[in-house]
Order: sequence, then C-alpha cells, then structure tokens
Amino acid sequence: MNKKYLFVAEADKIQDLLFRSSKLREVTGGSQMLEEFCKDTTNQLAKKFGSDIIISSGGSFRLLFDSKGKAEEFGEYLSELYRRELGGRITVVEPVEVISEKRAIKQAQENLRKAKHSGKTPISVEQMPYMAICASCGIGIARNYKKRYEDEKENYLCNVCEKKSKARDSIKEKFLSELYSYIMNSEQSDIDFPKDADTIAELESRNYVAYIVADVNNMGVTFNSCDSFEKLKKLSDGLSKVIQQSLAEPTKILTQKQLKDPTIIPVLPLILGGDDVFTLIPAQWALDFTLRFSQEFERRMKQSLEETGIDGNISPTIAASIVMCKGKFPYLLAHDIGEELLEVAKKSSKENKKSTISLKVISGNEIVKAPDEKKKFVAGFPAYSIEELKKLVEYRFELKDLPGTRRAQLEALFHKAEDLQEENSRTAYQRMQYEWLPEMEGILKRLEKNQRDKVKKALKELGDEKREDNWQIIDGSYHHKLPDLLLAWDFAYDLERDLSEYEGVEE
Ligand SMILES: Nc1ncnc2c1ncn2[C@@H]1O[C@H](COP(=O)(O)OP(=O)(O)OP(=O)(O)O)[C@@H](O)[C@H]1O
Ligand SMILES: [Mg+2]
Ligand SMILES: [Zn+2]
Repeated sequence: MNKKYLFVAEADKIQDLLFRSSKLREVTGGSQMLEEFCKDTTNQLAKKFGSDIIISSGGSFRLLFDSKGKAEEFGEYLSELYRRELGGRITVVEPVEVISEKRAIKQAQENLRKAKHSGKTPISVEQMPYMAICASCGIGIARNYKKRYEDEKENYLCNVCEKKSKARDSIKEKFLSELYSYIMNSEQSDIDFPKDADTIAELESRNYVAYIVADVNNMGVTFNSCDSFEKLKKLSDGLSKVIQQSLAEPTKILTQKQLKDPTIIPVLPLILGGDDVFTLIPAQWALDFTLRFSQEFERRMKQSLEETGIDGNISPTIAASIVMCKGKFPYLLAHDIGEELLEVAKKSSKENKKSTISLKVISGNEIVKAPDEKKKFVAGFPAYSIEELKKLVEYRFELKDLPGTRRAQLEALFHKAEDLQEENSRTAYQRMQYEWLPEMEGILKRLEKNQRDKVKKALKELGDEKREDNWQIIDGSYHHKLPDLLLAWDFAYDLERDLSEYEGVEE
C-alpha cells in the first residue's frame, strides 16, 4: 500500500490579523481574504502538488500527500503565500505518516498543540527609516497614498490593508455567500449586507447596535474524536454549515420585518471561521436573536454529529455574549468586552453542560464600578441558559405597560442593592432584609394592582422562586435577572412580535 502523509497547519492569531485594520470595512474584507485563501489559493496549490484536501477552512488546514517531502514543500509555499497575501503567520507542523487515520489525527493535533505552545520568537516587523507606516494598521510599510472611502481623507496604506478594503466589496460573493443563500433562498442581487455599523445603528432611535461573540464548546475534543479523515472532513463542513444556518434563521425573520432600509440584510458577520463567530446585529432584537441562534445551533449541530457518525451521546453546546452599545463605539473594544463576557459564559456552560449567554449594555455613562466579586448583591445575572433568556424576552412583553418612572425606580433600587455592605451591627444580608426590601414594597405599593401582580411575578420568576426575597445565590453572591431586563429594555423585543404590539398605554 502507498504511504500517505497528513499535513497539518493552522493560522496564528486570526483575530489579531483581522483586527489590525482600523475600519470595520477592512475587517470584513480581511475575512473575505481569509476565505479566498482557504478556498482558492490553497486549492490551486494543492492541485499542483497532487494533494487531497481534507480541511481548508477558517485558517485550519489538513491535507494528504504521498510523500513527506512534498508535504513539507507545500507547507513552505503555503506559509509564504499566507504571509504575502494576508500579512499573517501559519504554524506548520511535521507531516505525520498515516498508519491508522485515527492515530494520525490524534498525533497531528498533539504536534500542533506543542508547536503552538512552544512560543516561537516573534518576527520583527519590516522597518526602515524614512518610510511611511500604514495609517490603518500601524504595522505595514505604506505602499500607497490614497483615499479609500468617500468619508475619508488621503492616507498612507500598506498592501494588505489596501487589499482588505478592496476585498470588502465582494463579501457577498465569497465570505458571506453561503450565509446569503440560506437567508434569501434565492438570488436577489439588489439586497446586500451593510457596509458598516452605522447602517444598523440607524434602525434604532438612539443608534444602538449589538455585537455577538460566540464560540462552540469543546470543539477541539470533538475534532479529536474523529477516527477517519472522512469524518474529520464531514465534521468541519458540517460545523461551518450549521453555524451559518443557525445565524440565517433569526436573520430571515429580521429581513421580513419592514425595516427602514429594505435593501440591506440587517446583520453583518465580521468573523465566521472554525467554531468562532463575531457579528453585528440590530440592538432591538439582540437577546432574542442570540437565543434563537444558540437554540438552532444546538439542534442542528446534534443532528450534524449524528449524520457524521460521531458519538451520539455528545450534546453540542455554544457559549455567547452580547454587547449592546452605540453604533459609534469602537468595534475592537466591543469585541474585547465580548470576549471577557464569553469567559464567564464558558465557565457556566462547562459547569452546567448547557449553552449559555452573557450580556452587557454599555450606556456610555456608567462609572467604573467595583469588580463584582466584592459585591454581595449584584444587579444582574452572569450567564443565562437559553430558557432563562427566553423568560427575559417574555417578560419584556408581559411588562410592556409598566410606567417608565416605575421602571427607573426599580432599576435604581436594584443598583442600590449593589452598595449593600456590612455596616454597624448589620450584615449586608440583614440590610437587604430590613432596609432594601421595605423600599421595594414601597415601589410595589405605588403600582396599580394589575401591574403590581405582574412585577411581583417577574420578581419571583426572574429570581429564585424558592426564596422569600427572590435573590438567587451564585458563587456566594446574590443575583437577580430583573435589573438586566430593565437595563436591556429596548433590546429585548421578540422577533416574532411586531413592535406595535409593545406600544402600551402611556402614563
Ligand atoms: N474547521 C476546522 N477544522 C479543524 N479543526 C477545527 C476547525 N474549526 C475549529 N477547529 C478546532 O477547534 C478548536 C477550537 O478552539 P477553541 O479555543 O474554541 O477550543 P475548544 O475545544 O472549542 O474549547 P472551548 O470550549 O474552550 O471553546 C481548535 O482546536 C481548532 O483546531
Ligand atoms: Mg471553542
Ligand atoms: Zn496596513
């Protein structure tokens, strides 16, 4: 039998590469270039070497060669091309001789892990005196001095940033073409993805947008459990398809709404690669969109795993975070905050073996607060299960007629709870009982009966029903979900309801 060699490589720090450029348009352009690289460039190169591609997607590469030398040579070309086209680096490990497919997959993964942790010395950036540096990424040497967009002045640009900004124009044809086909079900060329965050921000009266950061749990373990190349390929293709279909479902509902601009799809994915998602969505439906995406993911991925023939006992889950902020808020900062929240969601996901979602509203006027661990009472919830987030969306509708002044009072009262510390001879908990709860009673009393009953029910169901005070204990501190709803009030609309259904009686 002919010997075969498994070639394994993975792009390093894709996010850094994409986020190096300052404009959102260049981030999508970068994703487009990555997709072109994985599909076209790698394909052509593989053909020249007579190699079979198992995976070439989202910066992951697995190919088969009939000699070790060829595999090594291919690796040199691949990383050089990647450097030239995208200005990034790929980790290539020693090709693995295939004795059994299962063992080769394991061995290759292990080699990759080692290589990634060995921490190669960083390469220095090309730098020469008297040369202009790219104004967009601040790293590359400027090769052009030009204006890219109408709303921009002339500037120095490096080759990669220049290419990224051009690539942006064809995201619909490549980077987002599959997603587009799931959303539209037919070729409708006049409808396109938005160019930047402003278009999405304009859909909301205060110009808010939402960013979702999501990452599948334990994907590495699942990839490692593949015992054949065929399964590995199916899993990789299946993952990408499932993620895109899951995004398409809530997006379809959005496109059917009568939004301000009917020629755009009001969703802009910035990263869709491997098990990673970073996307911009309209703020108003941010909670419902994310929970529907997660729900679709669980269902479709489970089915995909079964079809691939991977252990039927795995129930795939995903962790996600939602950052709601002004459209002008820097996308990079939103991503950083999203990553931080994602860590909280991941932790809870792994403890509870469930998909989880963490959220944060950046209103722009918050003061720097003490870190949560110092607080005994936290006005908010660290990570929601899909069902818990659904409850929040349901209560947004249920409480739609709650007067704004009462809402503000409730919100302020919950934030006051965060300051409850031990004082005089009372513990923080006693102060909640003897000082805070009576204030809550006071607010409830001032509501008319119908509203009071609804808020009481919300206090119960969005907290711990078994406790008299309804605060929910998590890791030693007390939490409640109602303040999150009050804070995300304008972002908790149900996708399947018309906005007019929320127009209640004014006070
Ligand atoms: N298309 C793909 N082909 C092969 N491997 C992939 C592909 N997409 C993702 N992976 C693998 O999935 C893993 C994703 O990394 P990540 O840091 O999310 O770890 P994880 O196993 O999902 O753990 P966590 O639960 O912490 O997210 C990596 O090991 C990556 O190699
Ligand atoms: Mg993951
Ligand atoms: Zn640049």
